[in-house]
Amino acid sequence: MKKLKLKEYKIDLKEYGPMVLESLIKIKNEMNPTFTFRRSCRERICSSCAMNIDGCNGLACLTKIASSEAGTSMIMPLPYMFMIKDLLVDMMNFYNQYKSIEPWLKWKSLTTELDGKEIKQSKKDRAKLDGMYECILCACCSISCLRYWWNPESYLGLAALLHANRRCVEADRFPNLIDSGVSIEYLGHHAD
Ligand code: SF4
Ligand code: FES
Repeated sequence: MKKLKLKEYKIDLKEYGPMVLESLIKIKNEMNPTFTFRRSCRERICSSCAMNIDGCNGLACLTKIASSEAGTSMIMPLPYMFMIKDLLVDMMNFYNQYKSIEPWLKWKSLTTELDGKEIKQSKKDRAKLDGMYECILCACCSISCLRYWWNPESYLGLAALLHANRRCVEADRFPNLIDSGVSIEYLGHHAD
C-alpha cells in the first residue's frame, strides 16, 4: 500500500479570497496541476467540496483558510472513506445508502384519484419540512459519526435518515395516495 504524505503549500492570502477552496484552486492552477479535488458551484449548492479542514468536516467553499492562530490550515480528505487521489474520496457507499431509502414519493397505484392534477402544498405543510429540505448531501455529518465508521455497511448514516424522515413527513399529507417508500420499522432497524 502506498504511504500517504502531507504536502505543504504557502499561499499569500492577500492575493486570493479567504476561503479554503480559493486557495486549493490557486494551488492547482499555479503550483501542482495534478492536485485533485472536487468542486463546482463555489456557493454551498453542489456539496462536492466536502473535506476535512483543521479537523472538522466541512465545505471548502464556505470555510475560511488559516482559521488557526498559527496561520496554517491542515486539509485532509473526508475521513473513513476510500481515498481515490489527494482530496478525492469514493462517495458511492454514501450515495447507495441514500438510494436505499428510496427518497421519493411513490404512488400506491397507477390509477390515482388525482388524475394528473397539481398537488398544492399549504404553508403549514411546507413549514413541516424546515430543517429537512436544506441538506445538500455533502456527507459531512454521516462521516463524523463513530457508528458510521464502524458499520458503514449496516448503518445508513445521519444524512440518509434525515431524508427518510423527510419522505415520511411529506407522505403524511397523502395517507391514501402516496407511499413514502420508507417504513418506520425500516428506519428503526437501521438506526438502533
Ligand atoms: S445534513 Fe449532513 S449531509 Fe446534509 S448538508 Fe448537512 S452535513 Fe451535509
Ligand atoms: S463547491 Fe459546491 S458546495 Fe462547495
